[in-house]
Amino acid sequence: MLQGIAPSILAADFARLGEQVGMVLDAGAQVIHVDVMDGHFVPPITMGDLAVKAIADQVHEAGAKIDVHLMIDRPEQQVAAFAEAGADSITVHVEATPHLHYALQAIKDAGCLTGVAINPGTPPETVSAVEADMVLCMTVNPGWGGQKFLESSIPKLKRLRELVGDRPSVQVDGGIGAATAARCAAAGATVFVAGTAVFGAQDPVAAVQAITSAARG
Ligand code: DX5
Ligand code: ZN
Repeated sequence: MLQGIAPSILAADFARLGEQVGMVLDAGAQVIHVDVMDGHFVPPITMGDLAVKAIADQVHEAGAKIDVHLMIDRPEQQVAAFAEAGADSITVHVEATPHLHYALQAIKDAGCLTGVAINPGTPPETVSAVEADMVLCMTVNPGWGGQKFLESSIPKLKRLRELVGDRPSVQVDGGIGAATAARCAAAGATVFVAGTAVFGAQDPVAAVQAITSAARG
């Protein structure tokens, strides 16, 4: 099970990726979030399994996990490549495939934790039919870092927590900083993705610590 802050390397300086990942691991992050975008499901193209492979040893040697967020169409076709590259958990969007159950089974078969993500416009009831280790409630529209947290996420998270019960991790992603993390934690979130609030901060180590303690409530 994942929990706590998950810095998103989308906002990191790619010319110094290893150094940036090392910094957040040293600050106490136990999860590194990798945002994969394909130019179809969302307009931008970001990174693929090579990026996961590049950081895998460093993250695993620190005892931390790699959390892959697939914002791509037909994610089931890419699960094996990301698992092979070193992913520990793989999240797919319900909006991206007609074969959600199959995609989650493929993730499980590959030995990874399963995650299912919903966009801001997708009702929380959509995930109640499938079992996953983690539910990702997008708190901005997927595709870009640095967006403003959507306030409608708070009642949605509460409803989501009612629907899924205590067991799965509930992840929030988009516009998360110390203040929004605290509010999401109170609404039932347990994993907090933060890109800009960490790597865009003057002091990323202090930012990791502030979000971690805000998330604990
Ligand atoms: C957005 C991505 C996020 C993104 C969050 O589509 O899924 O993980 O990196 O960025 P911030 O924390 O800057 O909102
Ligand atoms: Zn993400």
